[in-house]
Amino acid sequence: MNPHEYADEHRQQFLDELIELLKIPSVSTLSAHEADVRRAAEWLVAHMQQIGLQARLYEIAGHPVVYGEWLNAGPDAPTVLVYGHYDVQPPDPIEKWQSPPFEPTVRDGKIYARGAADDKGQFFTHLKAVEAILRTEGRLPVNIKFIIEGEEESGSANLERFVQEHQDLLAADVVVISDTHSRSLEQPTIVYALRGMIYMELEVHGPEHDLHSGTYGGIVHNPAQALCEIIARLHDSDGRVTVPGFYDKVRPLSADERDALAEVPYTEADLIRETGAPAAWGEKGYTLRERAGARPTLEVNGLVSGWTGEGAKTVLPARALAKVSCRLVADQDPLEVYELVRDYVAAITPATVTSEVRLLHYGHAAITDRDTPAMAAAIAAFEEGWGAKPIFAREGGSIPVVAYFQRILGTPVILMGFGLPDDGLHAPNEKLTLECFWRGIATAISFYERVTK
Ligand code: BES
Ligand code: ZN
Repeated sequence: MNPHEYADEHRQQFLDELIELLKIPSVSTLSAHEADVRRAAEWLVAHMQQIGLQARLYEIAGHPVVYGEWLNAGPDAPTVLVYGHYDVQPPDPIEKWQSPPFEPTVRDGKIYARGAADDKGQFFTHLKAVEAILRTEGRLPVNIKFIIEGEEESGSANLERFVQEHQDLLAADVVVISDTHSRSLEQPTIVYALRGMIYMELEVHGPEHDLHSGTYGGIVHNPAQALCEIIARLHDSDGRVTVPGFYDKVRPLSADERDALAEVPYTEADLIRETGAPAAWGEKGYTLRERAGARPTLEVNGLVSGWTGEGAKTVLPARALAKVSCRLVADQDPLEVYELVRDYVAAITPATVTSEVRLLHYGHAAITDRDTPAMAAAIAAFEEGWGAKPIFAREGGSIPVVAYFQRILGTPVILMGFGLPDDGLHAPNEKLTLECFWRGIATAISFYERVTK
């Protein structure tokens, strides 16, 4: 039996194991789930050991890092570092799920669960590929290292330091990450650019405590209103961010790249179909693909103030809070952009309230090299394992560790994503199409067989 046949024969077992992992609600941003996050990490260590890797946990300031390796291919064989994240986003709004987020359910050839695509189901393909090769051939054609972290969804705040301090442990010829998606099953996609980000809290304070809105409405500046006034000034009518200096360091798109991006068009109709939004929106002068892949943005992720419970309560709230994030592109510096936003908000805050902008986490944008032997191996692996030639695309989302691997280790990164655009990442009814899971395993097997030093 060859590894591909083994993978085909063990589909049910692979799926059952993934279901076990998906049942663990490893939500990294919520402290109530701390024990679950650890349970997922321990499950993975045990699973890695079971398939023949040496594995252990590394304790860091935040959630533990899972590390596994098989290094018996010898010094002449290439070393592949596989990165993934075992933490997941909160499942909210929970009432919108057709089946509970942590009770994985297969419907119509798709597995529904929080983390199915982002990222448990995706990095698991690599473990199954390793298992298939080891079980059939007794050895791997490559040395392999796995680093599966538990804090990606909360910003990978402690991973930079971990990479810094474990450069020998993580040394490799290439990093492979499956945490992105393809355009469609027929158009597998290698992402070559990710955006960076800064995540902030913008808080506006007014009176010392909540007030009666009849007694004080009209004579005290309402912080909820003041917050909206500030937020309304962060974009102009062309959809551009108004923060002075925001675009100064943005690497412009070359004419060639604009042409290449336009080859796989993404229309307003596509966007409406995918999202249900009534229309497209964004920065004038750029296509939808360019706006989401190559231009920086500023987003309000949440708003909290005053009475939001049932019925009416006439209150003038003492404070208002917005969760605000920016997506960044090469060559913007996250900390510099944070200072620009902070200073601009201070400058436009009316004298009748006070405000504060706190930075929660940040990450750099990343662009990967498309012209390396490892990339050629990835392309060939998609052709063989997935059954189609991959296209290249920019992605609007962020994976902070990519820039750490590039900057600290100097290792090239390949984003070999196995998801689809409608997987519902961070949303209700997240799913992974099983066909993607099988093809992902086959593609990973082919990649390990083809990659050279
Ligand atoms: N898997 C995503 C990255 C991604 C998003 C890929 C969209 C393809 C499409 C990753 O897990 C993620 O969500 N990252 C966060 C990072 C942030 C918390 C620093 C993101 O992009 O919001
Ligand atoms: Zn995510």
